[in-house]
Amino acid sequence: MPALREDLVIQEGDWATLGEAASELRRRVFIEEQQVPRDEEWDGRDADCRHFLALHLGEPVGTARLLPDAHIGRVAVLSGLRGQGIGVLLMRAAIAAAHREGHPAVELAAQTHALPFYQRLGFQAFGNEFMDAGIAHRNMRLIFTD
Ligand code: COA
Repeated sequence: MPALREDLVIQEGDWATLGEAASELRRRVFIEEQQVPRDEEWDGRDADCRHFLALHLGEPVGTARLLPDAHIGRVAVLSGLRGQGIGVLLMRAAIAAAHREGHPAVELAAQTHALPFYQRLGFQAFGNEFMDAGIAHRNMRLIFTD
């Protein structure tokens, strides 16, 4: 469990290990805050994913997942702790895991408000805007060069 900042740790693990904490974060951010329908949030794919959990002073504050096909998703940071680099650290951990697994690239479906967040990490948008769970999205891709 590498310490990335004095008060912040990113954990990586499976759903059995991290699912309880990740579920609570996703319930608060996606279902309560963003009004994503429950049956769309819980899509049955979590057991197949690698999961990432940000702990601030030991408390879960952010999460993300990596699907077996190298799609990153469910990136969420508690609203009161945004803008402090936690999302970037979660994304770097998920990108590093995909790279380690030998994928040539990672992809994600970005909510359009978050395009600049992913662009800063090197992702480029492709294709047209589309709606998912009532929210506008665009697909984005980061190709590994090494
Ligand atoms: N729009 C534009 N820029 C954004 C942004 C957004 N929604 N979210 C973050 N950024 C920018 C930050 O300003 C920061 O830039 P700076 O270093 O110049 O200040 C940079 O991206 C890094 O942001 P960071 O602090 O690491 O992000 P975060 O911890 O706030 O997490 C999200 C970003 C998107 C995960 C967070 O806003 C969130 O959980 N949103 C609600 C759920 C969501 O929309 N998830 C994405 C689904 S695709």
